[in-house]
Amino acid sequence: MKVVTIIGTRPEIIKMSSVLPLLDKNFNHILIHTDQHYDYEMDKIMFEQLALRMPDHRLNTSKASPALQIGEMICQISEILEEQKPDFVIVQGDTNSTMAGAIAANKLKIKVIHIEAGCRSFDYRMPEEFNRIVTDHLSEILFAPDNVAIRNLKKENINEEKIKFVGSTVFDYSNRNKKFVDKTIVEELGLKENKFIVATLHRQENTDNPAVLKELISALEAVAEKIPIVFPVHPRTQKAIGEQKIKLSSNIITTKALGYIEVLSLLLASRFVMTDSGGVQEEAAAFNKPCLILRDVTEWSRLVDAGKNFIATTKKENIIMYAERLLNDAELDRIKKINYESDIGASEKIINILKNYSND
Ligand code: UD1
Repeated sequence: MKVVTIIGTRPEIIKMSSVLPLLDKNFNHILIHTDQHYDYEMDKIMFEQLALRMPDHRLNTSKASPALQIGEMICQISEILEEQKPDFVIVQGDTNSTMAGAIAANKLKIKVIHIEAGCRSFDYRMPEEFNRIVTDHLSEILFAPDNVAIRNLKKENINEEKIKFVGSTVFDYSNRNKKFVDKTIVEELGLKENKFIVATLHRQENTDNPAVLKELISALEAVAEKIPIVFPVHPRTQKAIGEQKIKLSSNIITTKALGYIEVLSLLLASRFVMTDSGGVQEEAAAFNKPCLILRDVTEWSRLVDAGKNFIATTKKENIIMYAERLLNDAELDRIKKINYESDIGASEKIINILKNYSND
């Protein structure tokens, strides 16, 4: 069986790092990279750090506008698919690359497999929300990470036979990749175990709205007066901070976007996490670090319902209130002791379902 996988961004590389080697092992597998993320820090470093083989094809797509880029991705992916004629095209998550891959495959009548199907924020300011909906509705097999996602898909009248619960790949890739962790970055930044917070911010609804970004930075500064914050800055956030002429206080330790292994090392040594990233919310839970979500909604409500993660919103007073709670040792301890179900083995389940599907 011939399978094409399409990736294009930092989180897709990381989230697929437990699945890609299994695809290579079990199928005639071709990997396409759309070039959506192209900076060394957002792309190549992930392949190096996670010991992943390089893609077979790398597209050359415009960075001028998302619409132009998506159009070019569809054209270039179609050319490769027409030549390769795979049985399936696998896409993951909710990026422009995800949707472009699904459209190209669907137009060529090639079955689309969507990993992380059914995630919804119901926040229609998010470009990713539309990518998810389009991709799910074009897919033949929808691998859902949790029951919330399954419920969302059923509500959208997706044929139930297409939906397969496998769990999230976060537990598999976190287990796979923790062997690469080292403490260098923690020591280099002069940080002490459990005595600092890791923060990330990059969602467009947060960075591109000056009032929201200022409020969030001001909240981080207030919290950083009580405990050091390490803030690896995403290129989009860096651009917005520059454009909006925001000056960060020296209590916040900023770095450029870091490699995944550095983030993982910081996460493991931190007291708790503050983020608007989807992947970081899940990784925090996988390593039992409480997480304050710097948004009003989350796709990973399962972790909020479990009492591990908290929607701290984008309002300064709420964020400070939640952070103060987590600075209390007894409260931190209580949250860490909460058990919740982790679904190890999602990556293997995906492979087995695909193998059985091809035998039918
Ligand atoms: C988004 C989606 C997610 C989807 C993914 C790919 C949401 C809320 N999330 O990812 O559901 O699966 O796109 O389709 O829409 N990291 C670094 N260096 C840093 C900072 C973070 O390596 O400096 C790592 C984190 O450890 C994590 C990943 O990057 O593994 C997160 O990437 P991010 O860019 O935050 O995207 P998401 O919001 O997770």
